[in-house]
Amino acid sequence: MKRWNVGVLTVSDKGARGERIDRSGEEIRRMIPQMDGEVVVSEIVPDDWLTIRRQLIYFADEIKVDLIVTTGGTGFAPRDVTPEATRSVLEKEVPGLSEAMRGSSLQKTRYALLSRAVTGIRGTTLIINLPGSPKAVRECLEAIWDVLPHGLEVLT
Ligand code: MTE
Repeated sequence: MKRWNVGVLTVSDKGARGERIDRSGEEIRRMIPQMDGEVVVSEIVPDDWLTIRRQLIYFADEIKVDLIVTTGGTGFAPRDVTPEATRSVLEKEVPGLSEAMRGSSLQKTRYALLSRAVTGIRGTTLIINLPGSPKAVRECLEAIWDVLPHGLEVLT
């Protein structure tokens, strides 16, 4: 069976400064192998539009991962720009995956409505935004992982 190459991008000012342990990124790295994926690259960047954009392009165009999962920076705080940076590199949006994650998360917490996360495609790479907590990472990935293999198969 093909194992998907995955890039994990944690977006966090404190994480990038080494002031916070990257528990959300850790949770993604723990779950991806259970989804037939292999994490081949993992980075932490600050909540900066251009830095996030550059990192996404590097993962997609240079390392050519099949899937990028980001965590953090999807809320209402002034520095939360992950969805905007992501949208700037996408060629196609895949709203259904984000809608499914928000819908399923809503049964767990009303605060799910406060995530502006987006999902989409650049070249042959699927890019998925997740909120910035290990719990949110778990709840969101569990909501979509049954359909991911088929989506990635068609994409590559
Ligand atoms: N989604 C799930 N499944 N579980 C959660 O605990 N937390 C919410 C929301 N989405 C949450 C969730 C909260 S409290 C916020 S503020 C937003 O995601 C945005 O989080 P972020 O800015 O860390 O990306």
